Amino acid sequence: MATKGTILVTGGTGYIGSHTTVELIQAGYKVVSLDNLSNSSINVLEGIEAITGIRPTFYEVDCNDEQAIEAVFAKHPDIQGVIHFAASKAVGESVQKPLLYYRNNLLSLIVLLEAMQRHGTKGIVFSSSCTVYGQPEILPVTEDAPIQVALSPYGNTKQINEEILRDAVYAGASYKVIRLRYFNPIGAHPSALIGELPLGAPQNLIPYLTQTAAGIRQELSVFGDDYNTPDGSCIRDYISVVDLAKAHVLAVERILDEAKGSEALETFNIGTGRGVSVLELIRTFEAATGVKVPYKIVGRREGDIVQVWANPERANKVLGWQAQESLADTLRSAWAWQVRLGEREK
Ligand code: NAD
Ligand code: UFG
Repeated sequence: MATKGTILVTGGTGYIGSHTTVELIQAGYKVVSLDNLSNSSINVLEGIEAITGIRPTFYEVDCNDEQAIEAVFAKHPDIQGVIHFAASKAVGESVQKPLLYYRNNLLSLIVLLEAMQRHGTKGIVFSSSCTVYGQPEILPVTEDAPIQVALSPYGNTKQINEEILRDAVYAGASYKVIRLRYFNPIGAHPSALIGELPLGAPQNLIPYLTQTAAGIRQELSVFGDDYNTPDGSCIRDYISVVDLAKAHVLAVERILDEAKGSEALETFNIGTGRGVSVLELIRTFEAATGVKVPYKIVGRREGDIVQVWANPERANKVLGWQAQESLADTLRSAWAWQVRLGEREK
């Protein structure tokens, strides 16, 4: 089968990288995947193969290793675009180990951009985050909202990465750049063959919730019910990881297809446009799965944003992307994945 082109996916065995690899393969792209396996397992490739029938070419490589990255580009002169997921992403750990985060998340991007320039790669799609907006004054938040001082070294790496990409484009880089600002990615592939694999006690809401529902954790702590929101708990825009993965396919298409007329640097919010509170999310999960989630209200978590949700209009109009999955379906997929993880451990 003729492919649409070859895409290098860094962080390819990670949570979002694996789902995006599936969507790219299903859309007709050839994927060259790389990961240093610092936060994922090689077994993810089996899941990708089981879903798509294709095992992507994979390299266990660190993005900061210039020679190894050069070797991947040299071996695959057909690489037309890069999707750069590889990064360290634990907010709390970044406060403890800031230099690790600055080194891993900044150097890897620089190494990749230099290799792309050398090899004439057409463009890069970069994983950014709505964390760059901090607590926005106006909701839903648009891409033009001011960037606020980062609350963690991790958040700061996303801001600096965005600036590196902007400056490289302004300086006349040969490649195009699309920065995707994700809201809160959740859920798993409907096959339950790939999903999120948190190591140790999860820091994020959904894996903690599904582990509690499975009886692995005693109860979920809801961090605060005294915020100035309708039910007092924090509000986020929870986006299905499969919908998010599809946004990357459209972003790659936009970069590779001259006729789409993409600019040298573009930025898109990737969210549903709907804010959901923590308590509402628990209720929706219980209704969708029929499984109870024991929870208690505890104090606020330091540094939490009170409420944020996306204005995704630019992505809707320009990228032609729209979130499709309902929250209930996405939560059911997260639960199916949790159940499958439990079965694998038996
Ligand atoms: P993940 O940890 O599951 O995936 C990242 C992958 O990158 C892992 O497999 C890890 O082993 C790999 N990796 C890390 N450093 C590397 C290096 N130097 N070289 C090679 N591989 C390396 O995380 P994810 O949730 O899939 O996130 C993907 C990207 O999206 C990250 O850049 C993250 O910051 C960003 N993001 C994630 C979220 C979220 O809530 N999950 C939200 C906004 C942005
Ligand atoms: N929450 C709880 N209990 C928990 C975990 C979370 O009540 O055990 C609450 C939080 O207070 C917050 C909401 O659930 O209100 C979501 O929290 P997450 O930790 O799942 O997600 P955040 O929005 O805080 O942050 C995540 C990533 C960031 C990223 C951001 C936007 O951790 O790195 O989404 O993409 F920048």
